[in-house]
Amino acid sequence: MTEFHALHGRGSSLVLEVVPGSAPLWRYWGPLLPRDALAEAPLAATRPLPTFALDKDVALSVFPLLGEGWFAQSALLAHRAGADWAQAVTAAEVDHEGSELLVRLADSVSALEVEIRLSLDPETDVLTVSTKLTNAGAGALDIQWLAAASLPLPPETRRMHFYNGRHQAEFGPQVQELKRSLWRRENRRGLTSHDAPPTGFAETIEGCVYAAHLAWSGNSVQQAEWLDDGRYLWQFGEWLAPGEVRLGPGETLETPELIATFSADGRNGAMQNFHAAIRKRMTWPGGKMRPRPVQINTWEGFYFNHDMAGMTALADEAAQLGIERFVLDDGWFEGRRNDKAALGDWVPDRKKYPDGLGPLAAHVTGLGMEFGLWVEPEMINPDSDLARAHPEWILTGAGRPVLTGRNQMVLDLTQHGVADYLYAVLSGLLKSLPISYLKWDHNREIVAGGPRAVYRRQVQATYALMARLRADFPDVEIEACAAGGGRIDAGILKYAHRFWTSDSLDAVQRIAMQREFLRVFPPEVMGSHIGTAPAHSTRRRQSLDFRAGVALAAHFGVELDPMKLDAKDKARLADWIAEHKALRDQLHSGRIWLGEAGDGVFWQAHGDARDLILLLYRVEPTTQRHMPLIRLPMLGDGAYTVTRLDRTRTNHTAPFVETMKNGAVVSGAWLRQSGLTMPAIAAETVSIFRLVAK
Ligand code: GLA
Repeated sequence: MTEFHALHGRGSSLVLEVVPGSAPLWRYWGPLLPRDALAEAPLAATRPLPTFALDKDVALSVFPLLGEGWFAQSALLAHRAGADWAQAVTAAEVDHEGSELLVRLADSVSALEVEIRLSLDPETDVLTVSTKLTNAGAGALDIQWLAAASLPLPPETRRMHFYNGRHQAEFGPQVQELKRSLWRRENRRGLTSHDAPPTGFAETIEGCVYAAHLAWSGNSVQQAEWLDDGRYLWQFGEWLAPGEVRLGPGETLETPELIATFSADGRNGAMQNFHAAIRKRMTWPGGKMRPRPVQINTWEGFYFNHDMAGMTALADEAAQLGIERFVLDDGWFEGRRNDKAALGDWVPDRKKYPDGLGPLAAHVTGLGMEFGLWVEPEMINPDSDLARAHPEWILTGAGRPVLTGRNQMVLDLTQHGVADYLYAVLSGLLKSLPISYLKWDHNREIVAGGPRAVYRRQVQATYALMARLRADFPDVEIEACAAGGGRIDAGILKYAHRFWTSDSLDAVQRIAMQREFLRVFPPEVMGSHIGTAPAHSTRRRQSLDFRAGVALAAHFGVELDPMKLDAKDKARLADWIAEHKALRDQLHSGRIWLGEAGDGVFWQAHGDARDLILLLYRVEPTTQRHMPLIRLPMLGDGAYTVTRLDRTRTNHTAPFVETMKNGAVVSGAWLRQSGLTMPAIAAETVSIFRLVAK
């Protein structure tokens, strides 16, 4: 009897078919199956051999291999000095325990062993897959490619959504029709990257979504290839440089984890599953997320121009506004007057801070705020004491000129001396100052170089350094930043607690960017600040209310000099901070729905079907005489109290809209199917509502 293994989530199932001596076949991944509904017959009994084809049907398995007569992408490309290059499975076993399958494969001819772990979390509906390869032979094995996961997409798949971006323009949504060909994205920038982050959303003709994200902060590959049976093979893994991985006898290569999910509710469902899974994976100081402290960051308000007097005054001002965390950004260390020098020399600048940072940190904590500090540990400026003392620590071009980026070079963290030095420096700062937060930056890409490629080992060394610091300083939170959002992934989030989303604080640009960020990551890890007007990145000018409304749902902060605000804006800023504090518990838990109402109105709802905060964003002026209605698909039938929370004034208003100020009672079924009447808000306005079931 053919054996099947099924895993079931809340709304999805997968089924593998066991074939003796081969890797298990992919029979199903999609909407939840009843537990007793397995495949009607083994695959081989369901499809005749095509004419003039191999005399054995080679179907998609969890580890398809070149040497088996598999003509699409292999899960492995490897060789031993040119030999053993076409692998095939000779023995297979599947262990099934609860919600996890452990597939063990061996190729006795090429002397390889493989373990693939697939687990489908019944709570979150998120599938986690990773692969481990062991060299069981006598000689070295060179690896060019090892897929973390080889997943099936059904024939109804029509298009792939993915991202492209750059500094100050993260998460640019892209969409491409899938055809009878290979679609592929590669990131070779050495870190997660702005331009090809490892995330994809495959959408079917009916609007179902398969979503996947590689939890990894380095190079990556994602590809979808059409197969002879109409399905697509969707693979993710690390992009490996030539010669980057050579396994000695007995050595192992383990891929990063892929997290993936199926949703019959389209992209909102996939997003909600990812949020639940990411919340489960994160490790917070004290075991649990506490309300996200409102923070002030000194960067755009001050850049490199800060000193003890200025920062003390800023701290006083920030505390009065209700800010809870003060983050001293770049510019605090010896000789750092611009971005041309001093990275690597992590001692306070004596001119700016004659007595070190202790007095400032004490002042900040004395005001009841937390103290946070910016660092960029993996980086070094050629013009620094560290570079002069240890030129051998720099990742070099091995005979070729080193390319600088933002005037800086990269330290080779795979050298123990370097990792130990950075640990000593960072732990020294954490021991001597009351720091509860590190903003950990990485402001350039990694260029190929060195006698051998060290990309993946560099990422692992960063993870190890972060893990070591987290273990020794468990109360410290980390923000991951890389020229804004260049290192946003679920790999680093094992050690970090928030991302700096982008160096663009332009609120118009942020609306689109933040919606895409949210498709994988929950709002509490999305850093969003109220910046200056005009925005430094675009020179566009936006009202304080609009900037605040756009930052409101995220991990909220301020990045301007409040001493330069007029009295009216300062008072409004304090109001927004108070508003955020009142709403943050609900904004940062529960589910999120993203929607579009037409006429340029986007909406975002946070909470659950009985209690929601609804944000409406209008960027462009209306082109209609009357506003569109906002249909809220998650609401139940009963009555809801709808209260408008924002104080935006409009040129004209309707009596019903006015009643919402004090709470209007409306049927949930009506709001779900007909829609909520929205106020006639102007361009660049955010309107906020709370809907509570009665
Ligand atoms: C990067 C970050 C900014 C700021 C600067 C400091 O660009 O994204 O927020 O920290 O570095 O140099």
